[in-house]
Amino acid sequence: MAKVIGVLTAGGDTPGLNAAIRAIGKAALQDGIDVIGFRRGFRGMMENRTVRLDSQALSGILTLGGTILGTSRDKPHKMPIGNRKMDMTDVIVENYHRHELDCLICLGGGGTAKNAFRLAKAGLNVITLPKTIDNDVAKTDITFGFDTALGIAAEAIDRLHSTAHSHHRIIIVEIMGHRAGWLALGAGTAGGADVVLLPEIPYDISIVADAISYRKRRGKPFSIVAVAEGAMSRREGETLKALLDREANEEDKETRKQIKAEITAFNKAHQGSTVRLAQELENQTQLEARMTILGHVQRGGTPSARDRLLATRLGTEAIDLAQKGRFNVMVAVRGEGCEAVPLEEVAGKVKMVPLDHPRLRSARRVGTCMGDE
Ligand code: F6P
Repeated sequence: MAKVIGVLTAGGDTPGLNAAIRAIGKAALQDGIDVIGFRRGFRGMMENRTVRLDSQALSGILTLGGTILGTSRDKPHKMPIGNRKMDMTDVIVENYHRHELDCLICLGGGGTAKNAFRLAKAGLNVITLPKTIDNDVAKTDITFGFDTALGIAAEAIDRLHSTAHSHHRIIIVEIMGHRAGWLALGAGTAGGADVVLLPEIPYDISIVADAISYRKRRGKPFSIVAVAEGAMSRREGETLKALLDREANEEDKETRKQIKAEITAFNKAHQGSTVRLAQELENQTQLEARMTILGHVQRGGTPSARDRLLATRLGTEAIDLAQKGRFNVMVAVRGEGCEAVPLEEVAGKVKMVPLDHPRLRSARRVGTCMGDE
């Protein structure tokens, strides 16, 4: 039976994190387990910055956005120290033992699962929970945070409709999601966007312009384009794919490093592509275009009821698994239940929207232009 459990939140904050912390804490306290929170992710664990998650600390946090523990994107094996990045895994392992932890629960996305897996290989008992607004974690039906972000983005599209309609404009709304299109597809379809552009389907700008011009000819001189932040044109898609293929097949360490730098430069140049998309559509359709980047609004504020329920389910399940000694797993969502998935099956993987996904099919069936046909 576990006696002490550590908890940390890592990666981008997500609505529902506090609901999950509360669930972990309450279920643990019910079983007589002490819970120690580490501040600001793996960095706080390295710095041994702790907070005791007693019933007072857990009270009143269910509906709070963000994370009471704070978060960071710092990785144990590449921790920024001064102007260097150092492997601080040993210090984290030392602090784990200093607190006599039986298990460390890490709340995060795919990157956090990868870091947790590294700690598991260094001998720690680890459990992760899948959180991210992007819904791109492998081997789980869904992640918590996604539902809240989806609601915010869909509502934004609803609101953009009336202003686009009034001014006869194209409004392009950029939606988060990192390299995956789950949020843009979900919010775009729920909000009735006329065009939805996803990273999974590189687009042809003239197909998008034609779809908008066709609407105009049919008496609808306005359009909403929901574009995922990772979406790209066919040409950009081909360039990136070639770079990624080269990286995957390159055996020489130095050359791989160079290719990585090229990928970083490509991604940097890709930022701002929504502005270019707006300009191009304006040129090709003779309609005025405006752009809205929803950005971190999608991640802030109160979690939806659905996310609170999901985070509560996953948090309590994590304690049940710890009590059974089932470690080095992610608690995955399976329908109404949960399933423990080995971390090696999750670490480093990204769940993209499959091209035959029912949501994609139904978006096409209601006439949404996906930029490819
Ligand atoms: O992973 C969540 C996410 O919000 C992505 O959708 C987005 O690409 C990224 O984080 C933004 O990260 P940051 O908050 O570090 O700018």
